[in-house]
Amino acid sequence: DEPITRPIGPDSVPAVVAHRGYSGVSPENTLAAIESALRTGAEYVEIDVHSSADGVPLLLHDATLDRTTDGSGVLAEVDSEYVSGLDAGSWFSSAFEGQPVPTFADVLDLMRGRAPTLLLEIKGPETYDELVTIIDVIRERDQLDQVILQSFDEQVLRDSRDIEPELRLALLRSTLDADPVAVAEDFGVVAYNPSWARLQERPEVIADLREAGIAVMPYTINDPHQWEILRDLGVDGVITDHPGRLVGWNARH
Ligand code: G3P
Ligand code: CA
Repeated sequence: DEPITRPIGPDSVPAVVAHRGYSGVSPENTLAAIESALRTGAEYVEIDVHSSADGVPLLLHDATLDRTTDGSGVLAEVDSEYVSGLDAGSWFSSAFEGQPVPTFADVLDLMRGRAPTLLLEIKGPETYDELVTIIDVIRERDQLDQVILQSFDEQVLRDSRDIEPELRLALLRSTLDADPVAVAEDFGVVAYNPSWARLQERPEVIADLREAGIAVMPYTINDPHQWEILRDLGVDGVITDHPGRLVGWNARH
């Protein structure tokens, strides 16, 4: 894979990664949030995907529908037809009433022909067949180049590699590995995306990863003071709920 690391130097600013779309100002993981992230100039749009009981990949962060829709229950236990009637916007604001739970296919259609990359988080666990379905949605649309699949779930990464060797992968980590470069190389990922709280404790791993051609895009940072620290550390991307603010901040600093 071609590295996605940023050039080193004073003019290099971290890529803006819109977390769950522009989730600071719109309901996370909806088409409204993704469209808003695209318009604000984010280079990456991060989303979360789970499969319904009938195997349709849908956008949802939690395993359950309760927090972000007017429905309830575990997504993996209900059919996509039930989910298609739900409202995923009103919980955030009445301005977004009627926003549906998007299918993963809807998101690829929205992003087709546009420059940003989709950072597709598979929450897992997913069966091998569910992963095949997800990756087929990308292949059928010929959008493999526009997607990076990331997961905390190691089996999801190994199965995805097996299903489609050309799909770029990223490893999410809530704790730092003793040797992040060795682990990233073992998984064959283009990016190693750690919790910012943990990365802060050992920032020297950023240079190690970047020298190995592995990008570093920590999550989830909304405070401009932290953006400044991250830029000075030379990370490749910053995952944020406020991509519009970060685009503006990058332009001013
Ligand atoms: O992209 C990383 C970040 O989204 C992981 O945490 O819980 O927001 O999916 P979470
Ligand atoms: Ca996520």
